[in-house]
Parts: sequence; C-alpha cells; structure tokens
Amino acid sequence: MIKKVDHIAVAVRDVEKAAEFYEKVLGLTLGGIEEVEGMDVKVGFLPVGDTRIELVQPLDPNSGLAKFIEKRGEGIHHICYEVDDVKEALQTCKARGARLIDETPRPGAHKTLVGFIHPKSTGGVLTELTEHPDGS
Ligand code: CO
Repeated sequence: MIKKVDHIAVAVRDVEKAAEFYEKVLGLTLGGIEEVEGMDVKVGFLPVGDTRIELVQPLDPNSGLAKFIEKRGEGIHHICYEVDDVKEALQTCKARGARLIDETPRPGAHKTLVGFIHPKSTGGVLTELTEHPDGS
C-alpha cells in the first residue's frame, strides 16, 4: 500500500526565514513556494533525494496549523506517505482500526489528493497519505 515517504512537513511561522537553515546550513535548495487553495497554508518545498521536506506556514491565524504552532512551537507537523490510491488506502487504514480525519480524499499541493489519519490512532504522529495524479 505504501510506496515511499512522500514528504515530512515542518510547521513554521515564516517559510522564507525557516528555509535559511535548510539552504545555508544543510545545503538543500528551496524548490518552490506554493499557497494551497482552500487550506490556507503557504508551503515551501525542499527536495531531498526522492522525497522532500515541506515547510508549512499557516495563513489563517485560526487554523489548526496556527494553533499547533501556538501550542507546541515550530517543529515536525506530519509525515506523508505516497500511495497509489488515497481513497482505497484511507478505507484500508480505517478497516485496520485507524481513526481518520478525512473519510474521503481532498485536494493537496501540486494537484495531489490527500487524506489524514488522526494522531490519536498513530502513536501521536499526524499521518498523511497522498496520491500523485500522474503517478509521479
Ligand atoms: Co503534507
């Protein structure tokens, strides 16, 4: 079901500022910045091999992400795994006892489909599943 780690998301207050560590210290390259429609987040992508780090900045102060940073500070927010079919993978996880945040997939960055599994059923790690439209 799982193909690979698609990305690791880090909650930040400011994408450009946070990217400095990854670029200047780790020598990675910020591949792009995207504002995800409907999710009120600004996302900076840093490719690492065939996976990537995503710096996610809340644009809405009332969003879950903003509250996460307020409560816990900046840091790792979620791990995302790539699957062939998000809808099917979500149902499989549910059938295996996981508590879903998304019963059905929703649009993510880069025209992907995504769905989240609740951290209460994953040992505390917010877990995202993603499907790339062209299988890339
Ligand atoms: Co993500």
